[in-house]
Amino acid sequence: MESALTARDRVGVQDFVLLENHTSEAAFIENLRKRFKENLIYTYIGSVLVSVNPYKDLEIYTKNHMERYRGINFYEVSPHIYAVSDNSYRSMRTERKDQCILISGESGAGKTEASKKILQYYAVTCPASDQVETVKDRLLQSNPVLEAFGNAKTLRNDNSSRFGKYMDIQFDFKGAPVGGHILNYLLEKSRVVHQNHGERNFHIFYQLIEGGEEDLLRRLGLERNPQQYQYLVKGNCPKVSSINDRSDWKVVRKALSVIGFSEDEVEELLNIIASVLHLGNIQYGGEDSGNAYITTDTQIKYLARLLGVDGSVLKEALTHKKIIAKGEELKSPLNLEQASSARDALSKAVYGRTFTWLVNKINVSLAYKDETYKNASVIGLLDIYGFEVFQHNSFEQFCINYCNEKLQQLFIELTLKSEQDEYEAEGITWEPVQYFNNKIICDLVEEKFKGIISILDEECLRPGDASDITFLEKLENTVGGHAHLTTHKLTDGKTRKVMGREEFRLLHYAGEVNYNVNGVLSCTHSLCFVLPQVMCMSDNKILTQCFDRAELKDSRRPETAATQFKTSLAKLMEILMSKEPSYVRCIKPNDAKQAGRFDEVLIRHQVKYLGLMENLRVRRAGFAYRRHYETFLQRYKSLCPETWPSWQGKLADGVSTLVKHLGYKPEEYKLGRSKIFIRFPKTLFATEDALETRKHSLGERESHVSHAVVVQAWWKGILACRRARRRREAANTIRRFIKGFIYRHNERCPENEYFLDYVRYSFLMKLRRNLPKTVLDKSWPTPPTALIEVTQLYTRHCVKLHSGPTSCFGERPASPFRLEQKMVASEIFKNKKDNYPQSVPKLFVGTRLNGEEINPKVLQSLGSEKMKYAVPVTKYDRKGYKARPRQLLLTSNSAVIVEEAKLKQRIDYAALKGISVSSLSDGVFVLHVPTEDKKQKGDVVLQSDHIIETLTKVAICADKVNSININQGSITFTMGQGREGIIDFTSGSELLVAKAKNGHLSVTAPRLNSR
Ligand SMILES: Nc1ncnc2c1ncn2[C@@H]1O[C@H](COP(=O)(O)OP(=O)(O)O)[C@@H](O)[C@H]1O
Ligand SMILES: [Mg+2]
Repeated sequence: MESALTARDRVGVQDFVLLENHTSEAAFIENLRKRFKENLIYTYIGSVLVSVNPYKDLEIYTKNHMERYRGINFYEVSPHIYAVSDNSYRSMRTERKDQCILISGESGAGKTEASKKILQYYAVTCPASDQVETVKDRLLQSNPVLEAFGNAKTLRNDNSSRFGKYMDIQFDFKGAPVGGHILNYLLEKSRVVHQNHGERNFHIFYQLIEGGEEDLLRRLGLERNPQQYQYLVKGNCPKVSSINDRSDWKVVRKALSVIGFSEDEVEELLNIIASVLHLGNIQYGGEDSGNAYITTDTQIKYLARLLGVDGSVLKEALTHKKIIAKGEELKSPLNLEQASSARDALSKAVYGRTFTWLVNKINVSLAYKDETYKNASVIGLLDIYGFEVFQHNSFEQFCINYCNEKLQQLFIELTLKSEQDEYEAEGITWEPVQYFNNKIICDLVEEKFKGIISILDEECLRPGDASDITFLEKLENTVGGHAHLTTHKLTDGKTRKVMGREEFRLLHYAGEVNYNVNGVLSCTHSLCFVLPQVMCMSDNKILTQCFDRAELKDSRRPETAATQFKTSLAKLMEILMSKEPSYVRCIKPNDAKQAGRFDEVLIRHQVKYLGLMENLRVRRAGFAYRRHYETFLQRYKSLCPETWPSWQGKLADGVSTLVKHLGYKPEEYKLGRSKIFIRFPKTLFATEDALETRKHSLGERESHVSHAVVVQAWWKGILACRRARRRREAANTIRRFIKGFIYRHNERCPENEYFLDYVRYSFLMKLRRNLPKTVLDKSWPTPPTALIEVTQLYTRHCVKLHSGPTSCFGERPASPFRLEQKMVASEIFKNKKDNYPQSVPKLFVGTRLNGEEINPKVLQSLGSEKMKYAVPVTKYDRKGYKARPRQLLLTSNSAVIVEEAKLKQRIDYAALKGISVSSLSDGVFVLHVPTEDKKQKGDVVLQSDHIIETLTKVAICADKVNSININQGSITFTMGQGREGIIDFTSGSELLVAKAKNGHLSVTAPRLNSR
């Protein structure tokens, strides 16, 4: 409800208790109109649902809608028949109390539709099982059957129920529907023999004639033309545009088999329906004596066959009555009028009793069979005609209005009681409400001896010439002085003008109604002809059940229809009183069955007759609105700084703080034990408006805050997850480590593999950091147990290869060939050249220049000579000692000095006189060539960054191991043409090669090793 409070200007209030002017009928109707215009057909009066027939299909009965109302609080969603259904269902489940939903309203107001919607709601939303499915089907299928036999087209409703129906739906402990039971009230039997203009007989007759197969009709002796039957022509309306009798026939036939009717039973049922039509066509002729005789023998023939009775007996029964004279049973002939009346009485009785049989049969089919369901809970649905007033109101109308009088009494009593109970429970003083107690009218109708029904019974059953008029006189004599009854004779002149002489007027709770006494006696009188006897003899099994022989033997006077009705109504009241009621009050918006038309006069009339204003008055007795503290605080807490964003103390204190802050005056509200009661709607609306304003200001901030909170929460979640994961991993690691330590001396196994791997890993890492610095350093870190064996093996292997573990210094083992070169180098340079020790750990490489780094032309001119080694070198000019980048290539025959693509100088090994080098750490060396060789331009001064390697290679290639001179101080070399050059070597802080002032080449080299 709260959700729509803000839209109230457009769509009115969802609950009439929120009408400011709750006593104004105009305000009430205006609210209905506003809502009806917006297709909002449902409105509450407290927990009573008022429903206005939309006369069009609204998209509000889908499965989604059912789901929306499932398990939700009454006031959280807009009013709906599903909300009432769900509320009853939940109360039944949680409080284990039987429920009933009372649906009332005048014909065409939507009662039957409402009850179907409720049934569908339960069929769809309740838990199910295979067995339950069958029951659900039967419950749903009972509708088309009952409607075929009990509904008819009237001026007000094309599918008007002509009987009252109370249906129990039984639920098991799981809340699944497991059975049902139907009680029927007051079938309008007069319709069988007569219909007003524009109306029809019960649907089943037309369905049979239109839809029945040829074969079937032939057997029943029927023609496919309703106009042929006297009982179907009175209203002159065999066809109705909104009804398709043929397809309805199929639906009914199918429904009959779902419910469990055998083919024979259907056949017998249809025999009876056809018999009624044949009975209607029986015509009488009058003898001179005035006695009636039958002129239509064919009908008798059919009837005899269909009813399974003797034709002549039936004939006699239709023209004679039974009288008892001096203790003897005699038959006396009937006159024309009496005979027709006997015929019609038989038709009505046959049809009426068959209808009751049908209901019983459906009940057998719906009855739950399982013993364990004994304690089933029940929801009852009462779909009964509402209070109605016509121009002429007959005995049947009297019964209907009496029924409504009783329901109103029940309603007021129960509503008042529940209000009173709630006030008491909440500790709030009950202020008595002024309301019209209609007990006085109920008493007037039903009181023993003095009541209208008793008087009618007496008049009906007394010997002598009782008539409708004598009944009226008796009424005048017995209850003439009653404030709620008057007659033409008793009333004042003004009222007399609007009353007939055969009428009595009752002042109902809903208004005054004049009832015509014409035919009252015959209406209430049971069949007093010989016909029941004939029916008892029938071969038709249904009829023999309907007309019990025991009934004939009963010497007591049969109960009149009025008493029967009174008794059944009393039983109904008992049933309803034992349950917790909910109410649906249906209103018809116009007489034309048109969508969107809101006929105010008609609606005002119904609002009055349904007693809705009275309902509202009782419901609004003290307070317009009440809510649990929690709900109220939750909704409005943002309106008070102390309660926002949350209230920590007691709920009642929170609400009290809140309403004080809102400025509620003491007379505007009361605080109960668990609820706040607000007296006037305007107080609530003011609060609601304040909330709306507050929402706008809160809206933006809240949305930012809520977004930030979401992000924060998300991020915090991630961090927490990570922390948890790390902690988990750490715990696992520690656990594995401890386990591994315990198993460390075992063979490798899942328990210790992690530990062993870790120990190895950390040993190798330590080893890497602490490798011996020189080849002479024999120290070796102590390996862990797991690595002792492999370390020993490895060191032994290395020693064998290299007479020491040199080659395992972080590099792959050297080839024996290169180790050999190392040995040569050692021979030449060990203890002779300062940078030799630095060269020792470094492996000699195959070449320092690969094929791509040497110009192809050079390679081409070398031809088939095999390249053994190449290294970039610096050449110092003989004149001026200018440094030039060159490549030194060692082939199998010569050393070649190359400048890019040019072969600058080729020195055959054979011609290589010697090689000079200093003892210092520099890389300068001289290749000596013979001076007499004209091709040579003199000795070559070169510098290599890998001097030890380069010279070892040269020495090996040229086989000049012994021709390497390691000089101290200086080297003299020839420059060609007999001239000499000198290179001076000195120790210094850094390497420097330059021409000195004295014309020598000066080489300064840092001292690396102290000797
Ligand atoms: N909720 C509804 N939605 C759409 N049409 C409805 C609704 N209630 C009733 N009607 C229409 O009104 C007609 C009469 O309703 P019905 O329930 O038979 O009235 P009642 O049982 O009160 O005499 C229905 O046949 C249907 O066309
Ligand atoms: Mg109905």
